[in-house]
Amino acid sequence: MTTSKFGSTTGTGAPAASDRNTLSVGSNGPLVLHDVHFLEQMAHFNRERVPERNPHAKGSGAFGVFTTTEDVSQFTKAALFQKGAKTDLLIRFSTVAGEQGSPDTWRDVRGFSMKFYTTEGNYDLVGNNTPVFFVRDPMKFPHFIRSQKRMPDSGLRSSQMQWDFWSLNPESAHQVTYLMGERGLPRTWRHMNGYGSHTYMWVNAAGEKFWVKYHFHTDQGMEFLTNDEAAALAGEDADFHRKDLFEAIKRGEHPSWKLSVQVMPYAEAADYRFNPFDLTKVWPHEDYPLIPVGSFTLNRNPENFFAQIEQAAFSPGNTVPGIGLSPDKMLLGRAFAYNDAQRNRIGTNFHQLPVNQPLDGVQSNTYMFDGQMTYHHSGAAPVYAPNSGGRPWADTTGPAEDGWEADAELVRSAYALHSEDDDFGQPGTMVRKVWNDEQRAAAVETIAGSLDGVTGEVLDRSLEYWRNVDDDLGARIEKAVRQDTAPEPAQGMGQG
Ligand code: HEM
Repeated sequence: MTTSKFGSTTGTGAPAASDRNTLSVGSNGPLVLHDVHFLEQMAHFNRERVPERNPHAKGSGAFGVFTTTEDVSQFTKAALFQKGAKTDLLIRFSTVAGEQGSPDTWRDVRGFSMKFYTTEGNYDLVGNNTPVFFVRDPMKFPHFIRSQKRMPDSGLRSSQMQWDFWSLNPESAHQVTYLMGERGLPRTWRHMNGYGSHTYMWVNAAGEKFWVKYHFHTDQGMEFLTNDEAAALAGEDADFHRKDLFEAIKRGEHPSWKLSVQVMPYAEAADYRFNPFDLTKVWPHEDYPLIPVGSFTLNRNPENFFAQIEQAAFSPGNTVPGIGLSPDKMLLGRAFAYNDAQRNRIGTNFHQLPVNQPLDGVQSNTYMFDGQMTYHHSGAAPVYAPNSGGRPWADTTGPAEDGWEADAELVRSAYALHSEDDDFGQPGTMVRKVWNDEQRAAAVETIAGSLDGVTGEVLDRSLEYWRNVDDDLGARIEKAVRQDTAPEPAQGMGQG
């Protein structure tokens, strides 16, 4: 931006007359309609906001660099994952359910969205700080988000509604166990891990395919807030996480994370003990150990929050050669949802904005034309394909290199179960084998607190849900909840 020698200017660059006084008939007189500068200010102000993201509205982010330090070319030919490659990236962290102004320290899953500006186009990985999710069919996603947001009548959030949804969808148990544990309250965004969560495909130069899961481990160490700390911060500083990241980078404390992947040979998916495409499951590390890939550092704050963070558009559908999706139904649903949301939220040509466009050196040749706010254009080049004007078009036929086999009757159905698939096994293992006594005790307190005010069949079903996760944990939660809701003993009775 250049500063005008005239003070401010109108949108068309001419000197503006005054940013303090409107044009009026006499000092006290009515305003006149030809005060174009005033009208422009009023009209543009009315259009300053764009709709907030439906889920993940509150967040912020920063820019950085990803470096591939290991040779994983046996698994993928993607340029960004070749040893020595350095790739600029943008990351955005967020909460899920809260709105733009909501506190950063409400208990919630945290978003971990990444955009890699690669030499082969932009690659987005839009994950969370947990490796699993609440549901396994995208049909349920809008219902899930609405149940976590606000009541249609009062506009209030409601534990009754949240637990009603979770307890009626027992597949949520694994993610809800993460949420009610320490991960639900990270100390800062710098102190949490990130996960791609879904299973993705990697394809190497020879065309061999692998299934992968991404893990980003924080070099700052995982740290958490207690319920009391989080509640106090929610009141004192709703932007605690946003401020922490911005100020740390400004101080020159550049946070970093290491990327490792779990790799499953393509053919092993068919009879692995868990359905490897079920987003409510992890692959235990003893089955598929972590393979190091590289690391990234965040070193640059946004210069303008709206232009670079609010208008940032991430989509799990944005892949590059050597990386594909998988038969995870959630992932396939997401591949549509995001760009559609962004056309609505930002505008038809959101991909042309500086923060979303590919690197300068990447030759862009889309057959999408015109629409509101077209900035890049292709002059008089043909607008249709095929054409005789020499404009190239894509023409792959035959099997997709990042595809998989699918040929069956059209049905509406849950996934076919693998030998060890159920809803409660993995969360139960987390409670019994991963958590220690202190973590179990904290979870009992958190879950009982979250069930405060939940009544009737929803409460009964929620208590059964926890008994199904782990008998002992369930009994302790029930005791804590029933104690809290037990009627006060009448005065003078029950002594002795
Ligand atoms: C079928 C399931 C899902 C649907 C339909 C869905 C849809 C959406 C939509 C429409 C947005 C707003 C996008 C925008 O306005 O730019 C969003 C944001 C987001 N979603 Fe999902 N989502 C789904 C599942 C998930 C899962 C499984 C994860 C993580 C593993 C996830 C992580 C995120 C994150 C991190 C954001 C914020 C993106 C940003 O920072 O701009 N979502 N989701």
